[in-house]
Amino acid sequence: MKPQYRIRLFDFLNCLSDILDWISPVLNDHHKQVALISLRIADTLELPVVEQNEIVCAGILHDIGAISLAERMETLKFEYANGKAHAEMGYQLINIFEPMRRAAELIRFHHTPWAGGQGRFSNGWQVPLGSRILVLADHIALLIRRDQGILGQTEAIKARIIEAGDALFEPRLIEAFLELADKEYFWLDLVSPLISKQLEQSVRLESIHMNQRELLSFSSLIRRMIDFRSPFTATHSSGVSATAEHLGMLAGLNEYECFELKVAGYLHDLGKLAIPAEILEKPGKLTDDEFNLMRGHTFYTFRALEPIEDLSAINKYGSYHHERLDGTGYPFRLKRKDLPLGSRLLAVADVFTALTEDRPYRKGMSNEQTIIVLDKMGANNKLDPEIIELVKANHESINQARIIAQEASREEYRNFLSQLGNLAD
Ligand SMILES: [Fe+2]
Ligand SMILES: [Fe+2]
Ligand SMILES: [Fe+2]
Repeated sequence: MKPQYRIRLFDFLNCLSDILDWISPVLNDHHKQVALISLRIADTLELPVVEQNEIVCAGILHDIGAISLAERMETLKFEYANGKAHAEMGYQLINIFEPMRRAAELIRFHHTPWAGGQGRFSNGWQVPLGSRILVLADHIALLIRRDQGILGQTEAIKARIIEAGDALFEPRLIEAFLELADKEYFWLDLVSPLISKQLEQSVRLESIHMNQRELLSFSSLIRRMIDFRSPFTATHSSGVSATAEHLGMLAGLNEYECFELKVAGYLHDLGKLAIPAEILEKPGKLTDDEFNLMRGHTFYTFRALEPIEDLSAINKYGSYHHERLDGTGYPFRLKRKDLPLGSRLLAVADVFTALTEDRPYRKGMSNEQTIIVLDKMGANNKLDPEIIELVKANHESINQARIIAQEASREEYRNFLSQLGNLAD
């Protein structure tokens, strides 16, 4: 039994931000830039290290709530005024995970302008200093033109920030920025290909140790980020997770392995954060380009989880779910001998869930139809025939486990939406 997982929070946040910005080349490093600018400002103000760390965590994920590509593009406009919805969404997504609760609060107000001092409060809540730093950092990052050398732009960027003045930014933060803006290194780091390294060196985020309960809550946070982007996927990972865990039990895996399968189910579609919601929700057939983009998602999942050693088994269970026993799957084209039992179980759980779950545009398949499809995939050496036999023999209990988990997350999704409705402007 491995009771503790050691996770370097920075590695994980860094990878999440990569995935977020892979959605479009225009967004390249936006999250990291905002994190680094915020950190430099916080450091100039001599804020305590704990607060600096919170600001970096918030900066690196700040636009996580902007779910469609159109919405993400909106956030790139300097004069963007209606950012409160995605800020609230980001807050609701992240605040369930204890170690990130403070970062969630900072994200919540990252579009609240200073408004000559009125921005100290928003809807009766006090706006933290960290949020005000994010507002400024976000704007600075958005003013950087990627088609020009950085050092030639600094005067123009300073002028724009001064011009926006205390309508948007707290004056002492503008001062801190102007102090930084005279130093070339401040700008050069922002556009350097080594920005991740620089962030890592500057931030003092320690590894966090998680027990099973904490790891489950952490992966639940990720699950919500992935699934709640769209009503089409809102309960998918919960279904896969419950099915995989149940199948693991039936296959004789121990408690610990079943737990890892459950977590892997939550994380398996992590790479979908890099896919625009417009494609996830497209009702008709995907074009070749769209399908190719979609095929990248398990690759992104794998690469994002790869740096976290303690999650390596979970990563294999989750990221190999589109690999097929005959080597025709993707992205590694692994064959049966390379696929651990957990990965083979999760692949079946993914297909089973996709077939049986209701989607907004269609009902799930019946028992009989599901078995026919799975049988065929077993016979064609795509999925493990022994696991398919297990599904056939225990169809009722597996399906029940899936339904219960998906109903619970449907409820969770409803609450999430209603909180958004109540709290956002
Ligand atoms: Fe934003
Ligand atoms: Fe942003
Ligand atoms: Fe998938």
